[in-house]
Amino acid sequence: MAVEQRMKAVIFDEHGPLENLRYVEDLAVPEAGPGECLVRVHAVGLNGFDPMILNGIPGLKIPLPMIPGGDIAGEIAALGPGVDASAWSVGRHVSIMPLMPPKMIGETLRGGACEYISVPAANLIPIPDGVSYEDAAALPVAYGTARRMMVTRGKVSKGESVLILGATGGVGTCCIQLAKLAGAEVVACGSSKEKCDRLKRLGADHVIDTSQQDFVDETIRLYGKPRVWGKSGGVDVIVNYIGGETWAKSLRALKHDGRMLTCGATAGFSPPTDIRYIWSFEQNVIGSNGWTSEDQAALLEMVAARKIAPVIHSVRPLARIKESLQELVDRKVFGKAIVTV
Ligand SMILES: NC(=O)c1ccc[n+]([C@@H]2O[C@H](COP(=O)([O-])OP(=O)(O)OC[C@H]3O[C@@H](n4cnc5c(N)ncnc54)[C@H](OP(=O)(O)O)[C@@H]3O)[C@@H](O)[C@H]2O)c1
Repeated sequence: MAVEQRMKAVIFDEHGPLENLRYVEDLAVPEAGPGECLVRVHAVGLNGFDPMILNGIPGLKIPLPMIPGGDIAGEIAALGPGVDASAWSVGRHVSIMPLMPPKMIGETLRGGACEYISVPAANLIPIPDGVSYEDAAALPVAYGTARRMMVTRGKVSKGESVLILGATGGVGTCCIQLAKLAGAEVVACGSSKEKCDRLKRLGADHVIDTSQQDFVDETIRLYGKPRVWGKSGGVDVIVNYIGGETWAKSLRALKHDGRMLTCGATAGFSPPTDIRYIWSFEQNVIGSNGWTSEDQAALLEMVAARKIAPVIHSVRPLARIKESLQELVDRKVFGKAIVTV
């Protein structure tokens, strides 16, 4: 494959609003160093954290100028010295595992909103036949995180009831699919009628329109009020990565010995809580962070086997990335926003 010397990319030189993003056409193409492969990027998935990285996160050292985008799918364009040529070859379709502890592509390492990126061969995962670049780019951060939270940490199982707040996002749309695959009953929350209709079509058994309904009242209407004595009422599992004012409220809808799963706090990480519910109802708060290459490979196989389907809200060319990020900020995205390169 012929590799150009200069490439198109989206970069920002300082933290701030979306206006800080610049589309350039003359960035130097990186070289594949020892043990690395140069990947020709075809699709990038955007995440809730991309606008946060652009804005700057206290305590997180983000290298500037920065290229956003942690979810990357593409094809190998060149092998660096020392890469096993029997395992990897030019033209191979690959998904990139963005986590390189303690760093992460798109967060503390330059991301994929560009034509070429050089990454360690150890971070490449083959894309199975029949899986598109767009679908592969939708998976790593959001679907990987959802898999760890629902399967490894949350152990959601058949017959359980699962309430998912903010179910319309990247993590949430995957949580719904994984919970249904596990045989659970799903109550999904969205902030409009249109989003709730789509949640139903995705497989949610019940939906709660949070612009009209109180999610605690609705959950109690469906499952009854949680009881300490008799241990009835409430849901078995709540997925809450929204935080903020939803945190203490959620405890009122959780069953005795229920699990509250969290992987983030979109609306605030330091909310008031109500510890009385945690001890009285013997509730379990379970954190989940990141995912593994095995999770990412398993998700690719599940897509190839048609067990799950990434929910893709929009596909736009790289030059229009700002529109997609603006929709994320405005909560207008259902599932994943993809940018093609
Ligand atoms: N720890 C990890 O490894 C890890 C990895 C990935 C993601 N995360 C975290 O997981 C969470 C979900 O990520 P995501 O990319 O799926 O989506 P996201 O952009 O954080 O949003 C998910 C959903 O939350 C709702 N929402 C957005 N802003 C809100 C606000 N201010 N208040 C209340 N609800 C709001 C929206 O649904 P409605 O408009 O329908 O309500 C949106 O669809 C985030 O907190 C993210 O930081 C953690």
